[in-house]
Amino acid sequence: MTTQKALFLEKIKGKLFIQDRDIQEAETGEVLVEIHATALNPVDWKIQGIEGFLKEFPAVFGSDASGVVKKVGAGVTNVSVGDKVLFQGAYDNRHATFQQYAIVAAEIVAKIPENLSFEQASTIPVTLATAAVGLYSPKPLGVALDAPWEAGGRGKYAGEPIVVIGGSSSVGQQVIQFAKLSGFSPIITTASLHNSAFLKTLGATHVIDRAAPLSELTQAVQAITSKPVTVVYDAISYADTQNAAYDVLAPGGTLLVVLNPAVDAGKITPKKAIVHVLGSVQLPNNRAVGRRLYANLTGLLDAGEIKPNHVEVLPNGLAGIPGGLEKLEAGVSALKLVARPQDNI
Ligand SMILES: NC(=O)c1ccc[n+]([C@@H]2O[C@H](COP(=O)([O-])OP(=O)(O)OC[C@H]3O[C@@H](n4cnc5c(N)ncnc54)[C@H](OP(=O)(O)O)[C@@H]3O)[C@@H](O)[C@H]2O)c1
Repeated sequence: MTTQKALFLEKIKGKLFIQDRDIQEAETGEVLVEIHATALNPVDWKIQGIEGFLKEFPAVFGSDASGVVKKVGAGVTNVSVGDKVLFQGAYDNRHATFQQYAIVAAEIVAKIPENLSFEQASTIPVTLATAAVGLYSPKPLGVALDAPWEAGGRGKYAGEPIVVIGGSSSVGQQVIQFAKLSGFSPIITTASLHNSAFLKTLGATHVIDRAAPLSELTQAVQAITSKPVTVVYDAISYADTQNAAYDVLAPGGTLLVVLNPAVDAGKITPKKAIVHVLGSVQLPNNRAVGRRLYANLTGLLDAGEIKPNHVEVLPNGLAGIPGGLEKLEAGVSALKLVARPQDNI
């Protein structure tokens, strides 16, 4: 077979359509993956209106995937044809995941253990990268904590508090799980209270109702811990959450944000750093962390130390993605929408 189906965006703010395109060849160090599940991310509806993000039109997009290795390029030793794998794609037609086959560098591919379905595995890569880059990349890309997969990293931050704004978001869930592996305690998060029990299974120790006024957040955190909070990860990063998160942060600490920084200028102090996380292991700057993360990921998944988000499977393969993106934009709660590109379309 030489052609496949892909979901294309015609142009910025243009229509979405499914069309055939060539299946690409795996070059040296790369693998060709038959995509069995691809998860939707907020960026996938946002970029349809942003000039400059996608470079090639019509554009294939999407970047969370799992599937089966179909071909390996020269020099690939960590995976073989037939392996079930998960990986993060990139926003160009060769590497994007809203299609039936994609190319990815083998060093950022991990095998899926038996305890995860393709659909569950596909929920992990983008948000895992966003959490890992923020927490474990060197400054100024992240906070430069020692990663739990490196010698001496696991449990290293025992007794230190961390605050995660938006713990039930896909990004927030992964931050909580890494915070637990890193030893942070307490792990304080904000979410709707119906997600409290779930977030505690991931490692959160305290869930603050996100419906409570953000002006009371610092007080609520101080009622839980008297220690200075030096890491606050705002997985939501609206202007109001960033400002409240910055207030919670102690001098010497770092606020991690996932959207453009929006802390009020009058509040900014050199004593509190702000890092805008770019959560892709495809980016050259993040590749070193990504390589080590993926080398250790299968073990973390197999042990249940990194768990997937809840899954809702979209109907009709690639054709279900446009409706899924509308649903995602309208808002989901502790849920990942997943499409199966191999389904009949
Ligand atoms: N910089 C990057 O590289 C990068 C990477 C990935 C994502 N992002 C961005 O990160 C954001 C989160 O992405 P995602 O995929 O994790 O989103 P998501 O899973 O779709 O987020 C949905 C969750 O957000 C929570 N939420 C919404 N407003 C909140 C608030 N004011 N306070 C606390 N929680 C709130 C909801 O919590 P409840 O249901 O509990 O109410 C819900 O569970 C998006 O803006 C996305 O574009 C950036």
